[in-house]
Amino acid sequence: MQDVSGSCRTTTLTCGYPELKVDFYRHSLGQAEVAAIAQVIASPILTNGRVGERVERQIAAFLSCPNALLTNSWSNGAVTALRALGVGPGDEVIVPALTFVATANVVEWVGARPVFVDVAPDTLLMAPRHVAAALTPRTRAVIPVHLYGQMCDVAGIREALHGRADIAIVEDAAHCFEGDFRGQRPGALSDVAVFSFYATKNVTCGEGGAIVTRHDDLAERMRRIRHQGMTAGAKDRFAGGAYNHWDMTELGLKSNLSDLLAALLPAQIDAIDTTHSRRRGLAQTYRDAFADGPLRLPSWEPDRRHAHHLFPIHTPPGTRDAAIHALEQAGVSVTVNYRPAPLLTYYRERYGFRPETFPVSWDWGAGTLSLPLFPGLTPDEQAWVIRAVRETVYPLIPRTPALRPADVQESLPLDGGGLGWG
Ligand SMILES: Cc1ncc(COP(=O)(O)O)c(C=O)c1O
Repeated sequence: MQDVSGSCRTTTLTCGYPELKVDFYRHSLGQAEVAAIAQVIASPILTNGRVGERVERQIAAFLSCPNALLTNSWSNGAVTALRALGVGPGDEVIVPALTFVATANVVEWVGARPVFVDVAPDTLLMAPRHVAAALTPRTRAVIPVHLYGQMCDVAGIREALHGRADIAIVEDAAHCFEGDFRGQRPGALSDVAVFSFYATKNVTCGEGGAIVTRHDDLAERMRRIRHQGMTAGAKDRFAGGAYNHWDMTELGLKSNLSDLLAALLPAQIDAIDTTHSRRRGLAQTYRDAFADGPLRLPSWEPDRRHAHHLFPIHTPPGTRDAAIHALEQAGVSVTVNYRPAPLLTYYRERYGFRPETFPVSWDWGAGTLSLPLFPGLTPDEQAWVIRAVRETVYPLIPRTPALRPADVQESLPLDGGGLGWG
């Protein structure tokens, strides 16, 4: 059993000379993936072909969803989905303030307006009440983000739409390939769920993504939009042995994934239960180690399988950057997930957003940092991270009692004045 108590203070850590360097993330790709890529190189098709189709069937089976499409990123997948759903200029799309910028950027790219809502103070997730408060006649989509790997209540969000069939739910499942909510996986209750296989994600091919949907007609349209709006892909042009002309029936983009990258995915999807239990064990160890300390952590809800993509902690505003510096000095790499998207320069200048409109997101974003969490993190490395947090971050935190999540007030309802376009 590792000593994660951090009680020994006679080590080099307090002198500022790290014993260990702990990366924020290390991938676990190896010989199996090298062999898979070599096979693609030995075949005539480098772009999306049989390998990608096989992975799409594997993803559809894993998620029990009839349609899966590989894409070259979450972002291009989400633009493909929003286009296929007909979301565009004049439309509003409800997104949480506490997310990576891509969630809102895709809304801007299709010409619609992101309507940011605050998140729940305990889970840090968009909740049905946030959606209900932000609905307008122009709302055409909602993008719940399964932040850090914990799923939002998609069924509740659907109920909050009060039967509005003109509003689609597009799940941002970039953090949540292997999670569920009361047994329902991403894609089960929404119109579309979009995943990311970016370099640091739980399943990765460097850059990539996937879309799943229950709607066959939507899947067909997204397949076309994924290929410039063309009616036939490269391999279909010779179907029947002779060349067939293709047509372009609507404006699409280029969001397909090549077989070279798709080949990296099958082994990781096959191993997902093993990597998930490793992530869960590491996350639980962190949680237990910090249980009696002054840090705030998001709640984990018992009715969901958390994918444990990230392990964020929160130090009171004003201490976070010093905490990052102290951890870096101790050899521990961390990142910030996230400063709220509407408070970044582009959105602030474009729409005039103010922190007081999103107090929960603002407070969390001003104090959060994420610790290393990946299946290959060794017990020694994790013990080092825990000790570094206890020895270098705890002393930075004022000795007033830590804010409990319920102490941070939410801003409801959203009014046009607060959003800066009233
Ligand atoms: C919540 C969230 N949404 C969307 C994205 C965008 O994913 P991609 O880089 O595959 O476009 C990310 C990537 O980090 C993310 O964390």
